[in-house]
Amino acid sequence: MKIISRDETLEHLDAEATLVFILKQNFEHKWVDSGIDFKSMGFKAEAQQTFFDTHKKVLYYAIDTWNIDILRESCAKALKIMKSYTFSSFKCGIIDCKKEKNTESAIRAMIMGFLLGNYCFNSYKTKKDENKLEKIVFSLQTYHDKHVEEALFESINKEVNIISASVNFTRDLVNTIPQEATPIFLAQKAEKLAKELKLECKIEDENFLKEQMGAFYAVSRASVHPPRFIHLAYKPQKPQKTIAIVGKGLTYDSGGLSLKPADYMVTMKADKSGGCAAMGIIKAIAQMKLNVEIHSIIGATENMIGGDSFKPDDVLRAKNGKTIEVRNTDAEGRLVLCDCLCYAQDLKPDYIIDLATLTGACVVALGEYTTGVLGFDEKLKKRFLKSARHSGELAVSLPFNRHLRKLIDSKVADICNISSTRYGGALTAGLFLGEFIQEEYKNKWLHLDIAGPAYVEKEWDVNPFGASGAGVRMVIEFIKNLIKES
Ligand code: BES
Ligand code: ZN
Ligand code: ZN
Repeated sequence: MKIISRDETLEHLDAEATLVFILKQNFEHKWVDSGIDFKSMGFKAEAQQTFFDTHKKVLYYAIDTWNIDILRESCAKALKIMKSYTFSSFKCGIIDCKKEKNTESAIRAMIMGFLLGNYCFNSYKTKKDENKLEKIVFSLQTYHDKHVEEALFESINKEVNIISASVNFTRDLVNTIPQEATPIFLAQKAEKLAKELKLECKIEDENFLKEQMGAFYAVSRASVHPPRFIHLAYKPQKPQKTIAIVGKGLTYDSGGLSLKPADYMVTMKADKSGGCAAMGIIKAIAQMKLNVEIHSIIGATENMIGGDSFKPDDVLRAKNGKTIEVRNTDAEGRLVLCDCLCYAQDLKPDYIIDLATLTGACVVALGEYTTGVLGFDEKLKKRFLKSARHSGELAVSLPFNRHLRKLIDSKVADICNISSTRYGGALTAGLFLGEFIQEEYKNKWLHLDIAGPAYVEKEWDVNPFGASGAGVRMVIEFIKNLIKES
């Protein structure tokens, strides 16, 4: 689907249908047909209420405030309605959210809402929902009669197309079933991406893991699908900064010998969401040609059961030599990540961000819409949260404190892979990772627990059923801001 702009007023644009947003209960606007008696038709323009004028083919969509997040979500929902009428094109104007400087954010939010809302994954349906929608035409006129420069619109359009395509790329990977999306499959996707975008790509197999990454290797052992360590790099000539993105890529998490109950196992194909996001992020940054060096490091493996499973009671040796007592094989993400984080630090980047569907505890704490942001540096967390807010993704800070560390003490090894209490599991998991961060990186590392938002079982915001691509937008925004500041 294409989004284009025209330097014409809304009524002069050529399209099959029109989308008009109206501010709650306010029918006084030139885009609203004054000849329609909306009230007698039962349309009071309450928030999120819609009315379709079948005669002129205009969809009226009421929103209660000119708010960027509501606008983005409403565009995603309006697009679905337009699709249900099987139009091949529709047109709309630009909503300026009162203050002039917000017009750019409004354009960005509207295009993002349309492109993310248009996503549909139907690879496994024999009868595909057909999508006739080919084109959305924007009038460069705003609601408040301002005129937007075409060049400005097109530069935003280009960037938002890249970012949303990366989110949708991530969604596709995560939605792919575990029998197909094996570690080798992810490695092949990484190689393909590298070829297309001229990235460096290094793939390591089980022999490398056995030698260097004892914790990651242990998790992978029982699977018939061999693991892959994936390292993609985007290297511009003189980068302003270097950032390592580390992603948990569990192509399936059965829990291992500490087997998950049946109901909890469903959706665990999405346990690769962090790794897939790491691929989506590097894809976008390379396409945007940002002057920042990016390393995407993905630990891809299954966590299965078998004669060769790692076990509760085992002691593993991570890349940095630390020993780990295993007491629960379902706390496997941290075992894969700790080795990948050691590797990431060896690259000497300026910042390290890991993304992982790490704990059910994070979902219990924050609900299914919000990412937990953890790390040792409050300032860095704050900066990240600001970027997240601008990106349209929800994220909050989860706080470490000095009492937590003792909960992951082990009597037989340097550290234990689970906490001795059942409370605060997102924090102790984050702190476990923190134990593998060297002193010089303590203030340069962030951990994003995306267990809540990564997989959507009831659609919300711009997310249809299935993978959401959580983390992609906020990390891209953070990186953009980082190089703007430096
Ligand atoms: N992949 C899960 C976490 C998860 C839960 C992600 C729900 C998405 C939705 C992770 O590997 C896991 O099983 N964690 C355990 C840790 C526990 C054994 C300390 C958990 O959260 O229960
Ligand atoms: Zn697990
Ligand atoms: Zn897991």
